[in-house]
Amino acid sequence: MNRRQFLATGTAASTLLLLKPRTAFGFQANSAVRHGLLGCGNRGTSVATSFAKNTSAQVVALADLFPDNLASGHAHFDALNASLGHAAIDSKLLFQGPHAFEQLAVSKDVDLIQISTPPFFHVQHLGAAVSSGKHVYCEKPVGIDVRQAKQALEIAKHVGPSQSVAVGFQCRNAPPIAAIADKIKAGAVGKIVSVTGYYNAPASKEKNRPGAGADEYRLRNWLWDRALSGDILVEQNIHIIDLCNWILGSKPLKATASGGRNILSHAGDCWDNYQVDFTYPDGVHLSFASTQFGDYGFFEAGLRFFGSIGNANVPYSGPMQIVGQQAWAWQDSIATAPGSGKFAANGAFTDNLAFADRDKERTFIDTITSGQPQNQIAAGVDTALSCMLGRMAGYQRREVTWDDLLAHGETYELGFKLEEFA
Ligand SMILES: NC(=O)c1ccc[n+]([C@@H]2O[C@H](COP(=O)([O-])OP(=O)(O)OC[C@H]3O[C@@H](n4cnc5c(N)ncnc54)[C@H](O)[C@@H]3O)[C@@H](O)[C@H]2O)c1
Repeated sequence: MNRRQFLATGTAASTLLLLKPRTAFGFQANSAVRHGLLGCGNRGTSVATSFAKNTSAQVVALADLFPDNLASGHAHFDALNASLGHAAIDSKLLFQGPHAFEQLAVSKDVDLIQISTPPFFHVQHLGAAVSSGKHVYCEKPVGIDVRQAKQALEIAKHVGPSQSVAVGFQCRNAPPIAAIADKIKAGAVGKIVSVTGYYNAPASKEKNRPGAGADEYRLRNWLWDRALSGDILVEQNIHIIDLCNWILGSKPLKATASGGRNILSHAGDCWDNYQVDFTYPDGVHLSFASTQFGDYGFFEAGLRFFGSIGNANVPYSGPMQIVGQQAWAWQDSIATAPGSGKFAANGAFTDNLAFADRDKERTFIDTITSGQPQNQIAAGVDTALSCMLGRMAGYQRREVTWDDLLAHGETYELGFKLEEFA
């Protein structure tokens, strides 16, 4: 199947959804899902905009810790709503400060909360949204340490029977990736022997504001900070680990790792490179390597599955194909040279991921309007813990098993109170 055929199928399915005259849990299939965005930054704005353009969700509320980010989100979504023929956001539905997430959670005018805050806050914000009965789209990772991961599993038990919760692993929904994953799972490369994975990205850019104190500087540059982000393996490389777990149908049993902070000299304590060997059941190994530094126009991320009768290449950019006895290719894969993919800090990638967000969002909204909710928290926690396994192996320079990780109970503290931003 090529992209055009897949698109045609997707369009037909979504049109059907819009026309279905059924009502489920208060939703007419063609009525708007009232969408509140928590965290009006780069990714949050991109995803909420895509929801508004591609689904029946309509942004009606915004919340953010910082007034400038709330204001720019407000301007953006008022303009977007106007362009789509929707009303401007009611000023009563603009929430700012350390309690903005709670105010948004209890708002009766919101059905769906999108959590796009820095990773350290995801589980706290997820808890508030779930306990208020909202549908939730929560960015990855679901937790930056073992304590948060365990809290998230408790929250998962309180998701109501009509509540839908998605975790932001949109790569699974990219049509070429979904197609090759189906083939690999159906045995197209035979018995899988080993996997290689990589995520080589440019450095994240400094965000500064004149007069910002040390805590605010850390918050705005959360990507540089282990406690706020979980480090590059948990925050960014997680997409590749998630695809590997999903395609292999398992989480890793143990890991060994190396890495460090060899180039970066700016503030923060995240590593700029990792090399991790994950062991999966049946002796399958994922050899994973990542870097995050520099900015010279190079970006690549992907996986290659080696099996007894072929191998499958699963890149963000470049040929999506299987070579061997059951050769196959996604016809529209763009044959870019390795390393020439375009990085997108807001996650809105092109090439093989071009329709990942759109299809993830449509699938999620469908779970709400059709009354067939999903709860992706536990799966999201498994992937987050998989990355923490590699991170602990790296930091402690030893083999770490899944049980070691859970028993160790690694925790991170913020070290300051958000009340200073009230
Ligand atoms: N799925 C993907 O491909 C993808 C891509 C990029 C980012 N992300 C994830 O999206 C999230 C946001 O990333 P970003 O790049 O937009 O960051 P960002 O810094 O641009 O935006 C974060 C926003 O959250 C606000 N904020 C910070 N702490 C808050 C709090 N306690 N309460 C309310 N608001 C708070 C900030 O003011 C800011 O507006 C992160 O979890 C990141 O890992 C996912």
